[in-house]
Amino acid sequence: MILLSIETSCDETAVSVIKRSRGKNIKFEVLSHKVLSQVDLHAQYGGVFPALAKREHSRALTQLIAEALQESGLLVERANMFHIPAVKRKRLEQLLEREPDMLVAMKVMFEGIQKPNLSAIAVTMGPGLEPALWVGINAALALRLMWDMHVYPINHMEGHIVASVLSKKGREYEVPDLEFPACALLISGGHTEIVRMPKWRSYKVIGRTKDDAVGEAFDKVARLLGLPYPGGPHISRLAEQARNEGLIVDEDLRLPRPMLHSGDLHFSFSGLKTSVLTKVTKRTPLDERTKKMIAFEFENAATDVLVAKVKQAIYETRAKTLIIGGGVSANTHIRMALKSLADTEGFSLFVPDHTLSTDNGLMIGSTGLLHIAMGSKPKVKLIANGSWSIEDC
Ligand code: KG4
Ligand code: ZN
Repeated sequence: MILLSIETSCDETAVSVIKRSRGKNIKFEVLSHKVLSQVDLHAQYGGVFPALAKREHSRALTQLIAEALQESGLLVERANMFHIPAVKRKRLEQLLEREPDMLVAMKVMFEGIQKPNLSAIAVTMGPGLEPALWVGINAALALRLMWDMHVYPINHMEGHIVASVLSKKGREYEVPDLEFPACALLISGGHTEIVRMPKWRSYKVIGRTKDDAVGEAFDKVARLLGLPYPGGPHISRLAEQARNEGLIVDEDLRLPRPMLHSGDLHFSFSGLKTSVLTKVTKRTPLDERTKKMIAFEFENAATDVLVAKVKQAIYETRAKTLIIGGGVSANTHIRMALKSLADTEGFSLFVPDHTLSTDNGLMIGSTGLLHIAMGSKPKVKLIANGSWSIEDC
């Protein structure tokens, strides 16, 4: 079985083609894995603009799909130009009414290439930016219309979980057997959640942020320090320098550890950002040493809270496995802190490969395979859901 996956929930346009290997376990080979980032474009504005993200996805996606098919050896050009039958053409035009760039590109693709040997499509249906999600969904529906194949809607956060556990052996990836119950810490630009997983495809959110997501806090603090978007990697780099230099943070730059003693599993990061704002205002103009101290202190504060809540969640749920996923899971300090917690508490830890921590198509494709292997039915009606909870997927 060969699966095409599409991810357009935020600022990466991503497509992958994977081929399931024979056997009971979920193993697959990656035929193509393409990610086109819009980060540089959004960086000029200091954050992701939904309308701009949608336009860029709509311009890039068809070409990316064609390239992925080509790389997978599935693209066969037609000897003679094919004319899309009138009924299907009309339906296609209705479907892509709001994506005129994509409509033109899709028509050219359908006229020029034969139906590829694909079994199904997996597409992100949420959570994310709705205008951006619609581009991926409408593309999947257009492919279904023309090439007649099943479409599986995938929850982006479940995708981050699956991406984190993938193990690579030679050319093959595998979804390994996990020891349940497991907990997942999902930390991205839009989410900060602790999820209890008694088994695959069963998710209960037991902790979440009351305001900003941790990635959002990294990005906002970075902006206060005059660092480019997305700020997470920049904060992390400065903090690392401070740590290596043994820098002691000035007393007046110390930050709170919000909700550390709240007794529950919830988070709050907006106060931390406000605290940074107050300190930055007092110290303006910022010198490099102050920026480093703030980045260092902020990363430590965020990590302290994440680690404490995870420790409590593991204790309360008796989890044997912790999975961390989402863009912020790329953060080395957070990874190391959770690794040392795993060592002392004796649970297994899964972190995503660095190439799979930020948004990509493989996370959606591998989750699609998991759904199919577990007998999920494809969906006929697909509607973008910007706030789709992992509990309902
Ligand atoms: O999962 P993701 O790619 O997109 C969303 O679904 O939100 O996560 C992006 C977030 C951004 O906030 C970015 O600053 C953060 O992940 N991020 C990091 C690091 N790399 C990316 N945060 C902290 N440290 C990093 N090394
Ligand atoms: Zn993500």
